[in-house]
Amino acid sequence: MNKFKILAFESSCDDTSVSVIDSDYSVLSNVTSSQPQHADFGGVVPELASRLHMKNIMPLTRAAMKEAKVSFNDIDAVAVSVNPGLIGALLVGVSFAKSLAYSLNKPLIAVNHMLGHIAAVKIEHRDIKPPYVALVVSGGHTELVWFKSEKEFEIIGRTRDDAAGEAFDKTAKLLKLGYPGGPVIDKLAQRGNPEYYRFPRAMNRKDNFDFSFSGLKTSVFNFVNKLSPEEREKHIADIAASAQEAITDSLSRKASAAVAAKKADTLIVAGGVSANSGLRKKLLKLSKKHKYKFYCPSLKFCMDNAAMIGAAAINKYKNKEFAELNLNAFSTKGVRFI
Ligand code: KG4
Ligand code: ZN
Repeated sequence: MNKFKILAFESSCDDTSVSVIDSDYSVLSNVTSSQPQHADFGGVVPELASRLHMKNIMPLTRAAMKEAKVSFNDIDAVAVSVNPGLIGALLVGVSFAKSLAYSLNKPLIAVNHMLGHIAAVKIEHRDIKPPYVALVVSGGHTELVWFKSEKEFEIIGRTRDDAAGEAFDKTAKLLKLGYPGGPVIDKLAQRGNPEYYRFPRAMNRKDNFDFSFSGLKTSVFNFVNKLSPEEREKHIADIAASAQEAITDSLSRKASAAVAAKKADTLIVAGGVSANSGLRKKLLKLSKKHKYKFYCPSLKFCMDNAAMIGAAAINKYKNKEFAELNLNAFSTKGVRFI
């Protein structure tokens, strides 16, 4: 097949991102505008996110085309994430991508955001092929997925309550560290003692791959409330390190156990939380001990970005899996083929 280029859009939450990627997974551009405006509210405000996507999407498209040194004539397809996410935010990307595909008379490709996170790994390791276990950990999702082939997967574990990213964000909120919480906790944890306090690890049975993080939040709340303001200040890095230890301990042990249960030789970890340095270290150690291959996107491709949506669209383009122009966004959670 001839080489081709995809113009990809991501607008499912609070990052507007546009990328040009070519058929061999070379990222020609990947420009993202995040939305610090939500920080004052302690979380993403959906209506505000939609309005900011509308404001940003056109200038970012121009910037992505310029950086990639391409014109619209050089684009062979338009890809966009259609689920899961905030419906108003997704609709901005989907409407924009549809109108562009229509006006350029180019095929439209719909991408599941979670499959986009997983495909991000291919940007730097283009030969990875199923079977593999994937752990997808983001602000709204925690899923352990067994990919038997490119076309067949089974969700073998998921969170029963909060997502891993949510656990980081809520812990940070309790510690008054702002939003998003993951990066701040990660940074603080690097100078804290992870054994300062043992926060609970829920759903500990070895044969169960589901997660639960809401107990951790209550436990951090109760623990922090018993401390004096001085003690809290003095031990903030220790509390962050201990909370991170509990979250990453559950994630890494279950992911590693899933690899063993499926007799797999490869683990992929993706999504915003896969940027966590503690989690990456633990998984690397476990993968060496149990002798399986472990892949994680580099930091810039862990967070929401359009290059990963383009990466997920490459095989769809090859297989001519195109969407109709009546494509709609939908918020239904989880990994799914579209
Ligand atoms: O995938 P993502 O960018 O957006 C969603 O699809 O949700 O993930 C965002 C989540 C947030 O909860 C954020 O706190 C978390 O990823 N996160 C991290 C780190 N960087 C981002 N969590 C832990 N450690 C990090 N370094
Ligand atoms: Zn995401």
